[in-house]
Amino acid sequence: MKRISLNINGKPVSGSVEPRTHLADFLREGRDLTGTHLGCEHGVCGACTILVDGVPVRSCIAYAVACDGAKIVTIEGLDDDEITRELREAFKREHALQCGYCTPGMLVSARDLVVRSLDADEHDIRVAMSGNLCRCTGYVGIIKAIKSVIAARRARDIAAVAGGGRTMVGPAGSGHASAEPADGSPRRAAPAPPLQSASTGKSRLSVDPTWIPQVSFDQNFIVNYPRQQVWEMFGRVREVAACLPGASLIGEPTPEHVEGQIRVKVGPIAAEFRGQAEIERDESSYSGKITGAGNAIRSNSATRGVIGYRLLPARDGQSTEVAVTIGYTLTGMLAQFGRPSIVQDVAAQLTAAFAQNLEARLGGKTTADLSSGGGGLDAGSLIFSVVAGRLQELFRRLFGSRS
Ligand code: FES
Ligand code: FES
Repeated sequence: MKRISLNINGKPVSGSVEPRTHLADFLREGRDLTGTHLGCEHGVCGACTILVDGVPVRSCIAYAVACDGAKIVTIEGLDDDEITRELREAFKREHALQCGYCTPGMLVSARDLVVRSLDADEHDIRVAMSGNLCRCTGYVGIIKAIKSVIAARRARDIAAVAGGGRTMVGPAGSGHASAEPADGSPRRAAPAPPLQSASTGKSRLSVDPTWIPQVSFDQNFIVNYPRQQVWEMFGRVREVAACLPGASLIGEPTPEHVEGQIRVKVGPIAAEFRGQAEIERDESSYSGKITGAGNAIRSNSATRGVIGYRLLPARDGQSTEVAVTIGYTLTGMLAQFGRPSIVQDVAAQLTAAFAQNLEARLGGKTTADLSSGGGGLDAGSLIFSVVAGRLQELFRRLFGSRS
């Protein structure tokens, strides 16, 4: 992970990124700048176009680390921009959009053309916009809209800016790394790499205090047993591990330390993560923290994560609300499946299975009675069920009123 500082839409922003993190993911995940759309993720469709140091850039093929210190403007940052407002009105007037998926990238590229083009004719506009694909409109309205904005501005004696204000040659964002982050905070040391070996028990997990998870999110669930009973159960590491689909322990855990493995299958890729974790518990606040790291040798992937939990009384003390905060970093081959939106949905399914198993266990069931205890976690099927769930919801919304 590397700490970077950028100026995004006029505000200093810092964050930790993997070398492989592209700028679009950095903007969309965690910063919620979802106006930057992802289409092809190959630098072909232009949906992800944003301004980096004033120059249109495909954020799906720009590495976030390469833009350290750069000034970023996304479509959200152009809300009050005069040219973009004129383009929005022209796009509306000329019916230059249908689904709108390409529109943010179109507007960013079109704005650049409006700035630098003296008097573009249709051919020039088609050539200049050829890096932005639209599957809906047929382009006619888009070309007319851009042409009308250029003509209107030149008619108002607003001159074209040669080169669109570009001041340097070379990839946008490069060469802009500042000595200090844009927010003035000191740079952090790079975090230590994940654990190399987890099976001997000789090397204990050293937790780097500067490590920041790449992704964090919350999950809550209710267990229909009183808080004290759930708290005591959470202290029995072996029983808790048995409730997690695909997980098993290596050796004998202590209340503070555990080693284990979890089998994960994502599509055609099957991985077995082995690692260790440190456990902290605070009875006065009914809260705890599990900090772990592991490697999957065969898929050359590594993960580290922290799970914090707090038990809260619910339903007049008859039940317990378990509030969980999960933070993780996933690197290597499996990282491509680590997008927060997918992982959160998978985590929701996992949590549901865990909660169900926890209740069964609290109700006196044995490990053999628990679901998916030894079969391994098939994230592929979980993702499939998530997608299926989303489709069902979509169909319900579209056709529910007619059925
Ligand atoms: S998503 Fe970046 S060019 Fe298509
Ligand atoms: S309006 Fe749908 S892709 Fe362009």
